[in-house]
Amino acid sequence: MSITSQTELEGMEQVSQAVAITLKKMREYAESGMSTQELDDYGRDILEHFGAKSAPKMAYNFPGWTCISVNNEIAHGIPSISTILKEGDLVNIDVSAELDGFWADNGGSFVLGEDAHGHQTLVDASRGILHKAIHNIKGGVKIAEIGGLIEREAKKAGFKVIKNLVGHGVGRSLHEEPNEIPNFKDRSNKSRFRKNSVVAVETFISTQGTIAYQQNDGWTLKTNDGSYVAQHEHTIIITDGRPIILTEANGVWD
Ligand code: CO
Ligand code: CO
Repeated sequence: MSITSQTELEGMEQVSQAVAITLKKMREYAESGMSTQELDDYGRDILEHFGAKSAPKMAYNFPGWTCISVNNEIAHGIPSISTILKEGDLVNIDVSAELDGFWADNGGSFVLGEDAHGHQTLVDASRGILHKAIHNIKGGVKIAEIGGLIEREAKKAGFKVIKNLVGHGVGRSLHEEPNEIPNFKDRSNKSRFRKNSVVAVETFISTQGTIAYQQNDGWTLKTNDGSYVAQHEHTIIITDGRPIILTEANGVWD
């Protein structure tokens, strides 16, 4: 969407606060021995406290309130009583919601407790790359240029990017124009970021594989080579200068 009034700005601020706080609190609540179902129930309670509804549930009938992806799962992991979190797991929580007709999206990967399996470097690379990408976005910048930046930074850190998962416009629905903000320089994509528009920018930084495949459950995405992937996502408003980071309260950069 494009922000054209104070009412729209406030609507986006409210839903963004709801998803950001939910993500932050879920990350803090997660612990070894807990099922991802229990973590999702906790997230649901916080979203409901804000009066917000799960976006993937509303828009796509996703079987959970938030997406929780563990270890080799990249995204769209289904909360389950049989998925038990363990020390050193690479965990991704993605929280998107609707509140009063406005939609926001954010996510973040983290290592649960002690970094027993050495995932922290990947997580730190993804966080840093999202920061750099967002701070290079302003009105008029080519979407392909930001994709190029993400891919270049990933390569510098010794990683790859997932090519078929993308950021997107957001605001009046979960996914809207621009439909694709890729993590690589897509030369066929001639479009530019527009001032006052709202977008969800998300990294998909991979240890090896570059394509995400949907699993038999119809949701979960993984590479076919056992790669680990870290994702971080913010909803932002594009300006002439530094973007307004609506989901800053999620604390993925703290
Ligand atoms: Co998104
Ligand atoms: Co998301």
